[in-house]
Amino acid sequence: MDIRTIGWKNNKVRIIDQTKLPQRLVYLDIDKMEDLWQAIKVMQVRGAPALGAAAALGVYLGVRNYSGSDWPGFCRKLNAAAKYIASSRPTAINLFWGIEKVCAAAQENNKQPVVKIKQTMLEEAKKIIRADVCSCRKIGDYGSRLLKPGSSVLTICNAGILATIDYGTALGVIYSACKQGKKIRVFSCETRPLLQGSRLSCWELYKQGVDVTMIADNTAASLMAGGKVDVVIAGADRIAANGDSANKIGTLNLAVLCRYHRIPFYIAAPQSTFDLKLKNGRGIKVEMRDRQEVTKILLKKTVAPEGAAAINPAFDITPHELISAIITDKGIIRMPCVKNIRRIFKGETNAFKRNR
Ligand code: MRU
Repeated sequence: MDIRTIGWKNNKVRIIDQTKLPQRLVYLDIDKMEDLWQAIKVMQVRGAPALGAAAALGVYLGVRNYSGSDWPGFCRKLNAAAKYIASSRPTAINLFWGIEKVCAAAQENNKQPVVKIKQTMLEEAKKIIRADVCSCRKIGDYGSRLLKPGSSVLTICNAGILATIDYGTALGVIYSACKQGKKIRVFSCETRPLLQGSRLSCWELYKQGVDVTMIADNTAASLMAGGKVDVVIAGADRIAANGDSANKIGTLNLAVLCRYHRIPFYIAAPQSTFDLKLKNGRGIKVEMRDRQEVTKILLKKTVAPEGAAAINPAFDITPHELISAIITDKGIIRMPCVKNIRRIFKGETNAFKRNR
């Protein structure tokens, strides 16, 4: 399937409007930073790596019409744009990493004319896009070694093409295994409340010809008890230095179930999803979203009494003890812990300095 979740086309940011799937494949062309902020907020573009690219391009949109020629004035505009885009969603570290990357590119070129600084920022955003294409394939290659022919894989949310540029992390592992000729069956949890599993993962897996079966979230335990699940693979929005991993709400449930049923539980994520400044998952800020996403089905049909209390945390944190391995673009980290994570990144730290 030749689709790109996000890219730079005709001087605009082109995204797939994910709120329209699976009914319609609609592209949006965005040329204002405020519109991109809104697209991130309402999840027309979503998924940690895609958010990294969106944030980088968003900051560029915020400064590209700056008409002055002085660095101090440009820098003020840049900081304001970075702060604004950073306020869109708090959990995925990739979003802050994308912002930091384009800001660093500007800073490093601050002796250049402003026009040149802007060009460098756009080039940096395009670099993020190209790098994601490569790193997802590496994750796919490493992770596919963990899947035997005939495996049944259960996944949650969407960590696929639609969460990255064009391949995916957790689903990238499945795509790579399928390419190698392994027959893989996928169970996709629908992923209440916004149904990224049924709307997005099922859509792309089905289009790619993968054998996918949608399940309600509460079906996972009985499938496992019945011996129908060999492996669970999920993505991540932020991974602390000890391997504690934030991902879509409900991921922790699956990890606990896997431990009980002795099923391997894997997280798949690129290096840009690691937040090595955070000692453990307790420091990860979990996004709280509007209660209406829970009390209504896809913000339309009401499924709770008027005025009933509801909470809507978008993510949960799976402790590293429950994770069998983290599949990264640098290799597989078995029994994730500070030492094993440090070893795989060989002292390389993330280039970004601030979180939000
Ligand atoms: O709220 P979302 O849809 O942005 O949440 C996305 C996820 O939880 C994904 O699993 C995660 O970002 C990894 S994407 C490769």
